[in-house]
Amino acid sequence: MKLKTRLVIAFFTIIILPTIFTTVALHTYDPKQASEIQQTYLIIIFITAALLILWIYRAVSIPIKKMQEAAQQIKEGNLNFELKVESEDELGQLSQDFEDMRLRLKANAEEKVKFDRENKELISNISHDLKTPITAIKGYVEGIKDGVADTPEKMDRYIKTIYNKANEMDLLINELTLYSKIDTNRIPYNFTTISAIDYFGDCSEDLSMELESKGIEFHYHNEIRDDCKIIVDTEQLRRVINNIVNNSIKYMDKPSGCITMGVKDVGDFVQIELGDNGKGIAAKDLPNIFDRFYRTDASRNSSKGGSGIGLSIVKKIVEEHGGNIWATSREDEGTTMSFVVRKYQEVPVDE
Ligand SMILES: Nc1ncnc2c1ncn2[C@@H]1O[C@H](COP(=O)(O)OP(=O)(O)OP(=O)(O)O)[C@@H](O)[C@H]1O
Ligand SMILES: [Mg+2]
Repeated sequence: MKLKTRLVIAFFTIIILPTIFTTVALHTYDPKQASEIQQTYLIIIFITAALLILWIYRAVSIPIKKMQEAAQQIKEGNLNFELKVESEDELGQLSQDFEDMRLRLKANAEEKVKFDRENKELISNISHDLKTPITAIKGYVEGIKDGVADTPEKMDRYIKTIYNKANEMDLLINELTLYSKIDTNRIPYNFTTISAIDYFGDCSEDLSMELESKGIEFHYHNEIRDDCKIIVDTEQLRRVINNIVNNSIKYMDKPSGCITMGVKDVGDFVQIELGDNGKGIAAKDLPNIFDRFYRTDASRNSSKGGSGIGLSIVKKIVEEHGGNIWATSREDEGTTMSFVVRKYQEVPVDE
């Protein structure tokens, strides 16, 4: 019942009762009886007034007490309680508004936590990937300084690689600047339709140059048609390949290391396989290697550095491309990482 209705009822009861009793008392000619009526009237008025006040007080005090407790919880930072709305009066409406406000605050707080977590993740992903080109540039510059690039062709290749690596860094830093400006943690992917054969051909050239300087053999085999096109963000896909190949280099335990790259057509997708003959991954670890911060046998791996986020970045990027990634491996023999990216299909136009 509405508070206003309760007050109106109380008002009329208090007004009507004395009127009735006064009328009755006036029509009673016996003074003794009239005095008795007056006494009864006083008692009844007293009890009725007390009951009415209690009735109104309870309607007001209970929701106010509940709201007071709720406000205290919010003050202490707890948004996980529920304010039960039991009446439909004005205070019930106020409690409902309070409950809506709590739900809104809770949603905002959860969103902020998620945003902060993604923000941290993003910055650590970019810092992770920035390390690779920096190390490579340092390596090539040292090579030039030590006279390893002793022919004009070699010098040319070294300079070209340094330039490419500096470009990669530039893109990552641009990404970081962009994130700090926009209010979202989603990578603004720049999908384009490109020729698969050209793209992976270029990648394989870069990799062969990089791996040669590290004394690792590299083989590239391509089984796709010349006109095959893929829809990818070329820079993000490079991050995927770089991360996988860096792992192959990092976990290589053979003196004659060998890395292979294969590209094949699998219907609606193009499948890329990057294999190595490194130390391999135990079957029990395989399902977890794409989890963030997961490193196999941390104590044995600690000498290799790393935080266990490389493959989580890879997985995220491949999935954002509408593809998926998996690994096959045999301990002491090597690992193959395979992933697929969408092929561009030309829709036949009806004649
Ligand atoms: N080619 C590989 N050969 C052997 N083990 C691998 C290979 N690739 C990944 N792993 C195992 O999977 C784990 C997870 O790889 P991931 O790239 O996510 O992290 P990381 O290389 O340890 O660290 P980070 O990439 O952050 O520097 C590695 O710790 C390693 O044990
Ligand atoms: Mg790694």
